[in-house]
Amino acid sequence: MNTNTDWATLPFAYTNTGANVRCSFSNNQWGEITVHSDDILPIHMAATCLHYGQECFEGLKAYRGKDGNIRLFRWKDNAARFNRSARRVGMQEIPEEVFEKALFTLIENNRDSVPPYGTGATLYIRPLLIGTTPRLGLNRSEDYLFVMFACPVGPYFKNGFKPGKVVVERDSDRAAPLGTGTVKIGGNYAAALNTTLRVQKEGYSSAMYLDPKQKTYIDECGPANFFGIKGNSYVTPQSSSILESITNLSLMTLAEHIGLTVERRQIPLEELAEFSEAAQCGTAAVLSPIYSITDPATSTVYTFGKPDEVSPVCSKLYTMLTGIQSGDLEDIFGWITLL
Ligand code: PLP
Ligand code: COI
Repeated sequence: MNTNTDWATLPFAYTNTGANVRCSFSNNQWGEITVHSDDILPIHMAATCLHYGQECFEGLKAYRGKDGNIRLFRWKDNAARFNRSARRVGMQEIPEEVFEKALFTLIENNRDSVPPYGTGATLYIRPLLIGTTPRLGLNRSEDYLFVMFACPVGPYFKNGFKPGKVVVERDSDRAAPLGTGTVKIGGNYAAALNTTLRVQKEGYSSAMYLDPKQKTYIDECGPANFFGIKGNSYVTPQSSSILESITNLSLMTLAEHIGLTVERRQIPLEELAEFSEAAQCGTAAVLSPIYSITDPATSTVYTFGKPDEVSPVCSKLYTMLTGIQSGDLEDIFGWITLL
């Protein structure tokens, strides 16, 4: 990266760092991992990823510690979820060793793009798998391209760690009850895109989706899981249409560690009235506190804490999570890989 990079004001946006890695699958085997500076992919116009949605992706981050070391957070969980996504849309899975080699090669070739400690910026890593066999009839691909690139990024939500506003979406679903909501495929994001853009225009950070079958229970917030604090409990949705967030799993562990009870269950929307804190969480979102959730259908606005102040449990969990990720706190759960 340019030595003049203003790391503290980086947006969450694409930049070509000068090195991406690729690996192809053909004739029933994975080939060599190669490093590229060009960010254009050669692709056949009839490739299955373009027509029949044979595509999945991941999102994970590398963090620079005070000691200058680079830390990866729970990358094996991303590798496992990547394969669950691939399987769900009929694609070839990737051996963990191939994922690992690609990831380590990517970091090795992008060490200067990992933002300095203390800037608030991190290196976002995007693994991508696409079916590349040309097909006209609906069928799975025989050939695949696995790509990994990385971009230094700042906060995903404009408000960063300040409490934001969320709105309940009732006019569309991002996933079907037994559809693909549990995996990370492009189609889920396309299904939610118009809603996301509309609610952002209206001043909200995210749309909150309800369970697509009954529209009764909370599912998740656009690109992030939801959790709330009720009494001494960390409460987060159990649903067959949401992505299992690695950030949320980590926060559940941390919540238990500080003496909270973790409840993973259906959450009726109206129960929000009993929550003292609420937040969205994810790799890009980190932990983003929610000040208000508006339900236009009932003209109800649920509020949590103060609009300009992060509530105490969210604040504590954020400090613990980001502390472990940057190396300021001891990695007592074995989540970090040092590179
Ligand atoms: N839910 C959705 C729909 C997402 O896209 C993401 C982001 O990956 C998350 C939740 C959070 O998951 P994770 O914490 O593993 O990044
Ligand atoms: C992530 O949090 O990693 C995501 O993939 C969300 C995406 C919309 C940026």
